[in-house]
Amino acid sequence: MQEGKHRILMLLQTAWVLLVVFVLKGCAQNLPPAKYDGFVYDHHLVDSDSILIEAFFDPVCPDSRDAWPPLKKALQHYSPRVSVVVHLLPLPYHDNAFVSSRVLHIVNQLNTSATFPLLEWFFKNQEKYYNVQTRNLSRVAVANDIVNSVTEVVGNSYHSDLESGLNDRKTDLKTRVSFKYSASRGVYATPTFFLNGFVLPDAGSPTDFNGWKKIIDPLIGNEAPKNQENLHFFL
Ligand SMILES: *[C@@H]1O[C@H](CO)[C@@H](O)[C@H](O)[C@H]1NC(C)=O
Ligand SMILES: *[C@@H]1O[C@H](CO)[C@@H](O)[C@H](O)[C@H]1NC(C)=O
Repeated sequence: MQEGKHRILMLLQTAWVLLVVFVLKGCAQNLPPAKYDGFVYDHHLVDSDSILIEAFFDPVCPDSRDAWPPLKKALQHYSPRVSVVVHLLPLPYHDNAFVSSRVLHIVNQLNTSATFPLLEWFFKNQEKYYNVQTRNLSRVAVANDIVNSVTEVVGNSYHSDLESGLNDRKTDLKTRVSFKYSASRGVYATPTFFLNGFVLPDAGSPTDFNGWKKIIDPLIGNEAPKNQENLHFFL
């Protein structure tokens, strides 16, 4: 009897291990991706002399929305010494984050130049897609609303491509890659910024333009700020 129980336990354990292996393999089949994740702002190529800022944003997150204008201002101020790559992290507790991120991937594929105008459109109109505002709507109704609204932003000729994009598994996988990339970097809040590969403090809250100046000026040899403290947050 004891022997029989033991055997059943062994079988269950083996089945469990096989299941775990199967699930992990199943989820990881699209990794590594053919292209590095992220949208490069302004097509500005990252070279070895420029400072690389990676921004992790959720298109329907208010703090990401508030973080973008000062970062954009810093970029314009320091151009071409600073490059920005935006990675999308659709947060699981924002009901429409994944579909919004997916639409950004679809548009990026159709017309790369429309990516950032569309991201800005999402930031401007995100309230319409918050959880409370969409709680009585079906997933399909929200997706259709996004497709119709986004068509107005990127142009009528894109309507059918946007619709078919949402039925194309490849765009789903691309958006998953963005999520997985963010998770692999340990990012769990938006906005989160990495500068030359190192995470900046205060993840989840926007940095204003002066905040960016304090961080970037010393790195490019501009006059050091009087308060040296902020230079040492990495150490
Ligand atoms: C691509 O997007 C940009 C920016 O929105 C726009 O100016 C341009 O006309 C678009 N190109 C095409 C072919 O639709
Ligand atoms: C959703 O439906 C409930 C129940 O009918 C209603 O009380 C609520 O106001 C609705 N919310 C929105 C955002 O329409």
